[in-house]
Amino acid sequence: MNRRQFAKGGLAVVFAAAMPRLASAAEGEKRMKAAVVYYSWSGNTRFAAETIAKKAGADIFEIKAETSYNGDFQKCCDEAKPECQGKTLRPIKAIEGLDLAKYDMVFVGTPNWWGTMAPPVRTWVTQSKDALKGKTTCLFQTNGGGGMQRVGKEFAEVVGNAAKVLPPKAFGGSSIKSSVSALEAFADERMAAK
Ligand SMILES: Cc1cc2nc3c(=O)[nH]c(=O)nc-3n(C[C@H](O)[C@H](O)[C@H](O)COP(=O)(O)O)c2cc1C
Repeated sequence: MNRRQFAKGGLAVVFAAAMPRLASAAEGEKRMKAAVVYYSWSGNTRFAAETIAKKAGADIFEIKAETSYNGDFQKCCDEAKPECQGKTLRPIKAIEGLDLAKYDMVFVGTPNWWGTMAPPVRTWVTQSKDALKGKTTCLFQTNGGGGMQRVGKEFAEVVGNAAKVLPPKAFGGSSIKSSVSALEAFADERMAAK
């Protein structure tokens, strides 16, 4: 083998050695998949979740309480207050078709209720902690003017060390339909950061 043939052969060897790694990296890229899991009582967080899911190419799943909260705002507030303050795990329905093993990025959406997560979200995160192990998670919330309050901090506390937790983001609930570009930017930024 002359020098040129050797160089070509060497390159081929190097290339062949790199191929499986390139192939598995490409497969890995393909497997990168996001889910958006949310709870919404009056639709604002649902709109945010749908917008984020569309932008991130994510599958979307809704958390539902075993027993729905009262449809009246004041009654719902009264019912939710002791649960939020007591960090009660309100029972939720099983989410059909959700297999967290398929995802490496999980967005979690909640309305801000009494400064924290809505109880069904606390329940889901608590129950899903083990399944979230090794994944990246990111909380988003909608609120009635209180901003983030304790929502992001308590979400991170419940997730614990199980998952990587990206910075959470709060969106105003009443203006959510005019926040599409902010929601899309959030989805893009967090997907890039995962
Ligand atoms: C039970 C209850 C408690 C709430 N507590 C707060 C609060 O502490 N701070 C706040 O900014 N908004 C609060 N809100 C307003 C909601 O966070 C806001 O309207 C949100 O966008 C609703 O999301 P949803 O439409 O997905 O349910 C509360 C609403 C309800 C029903």
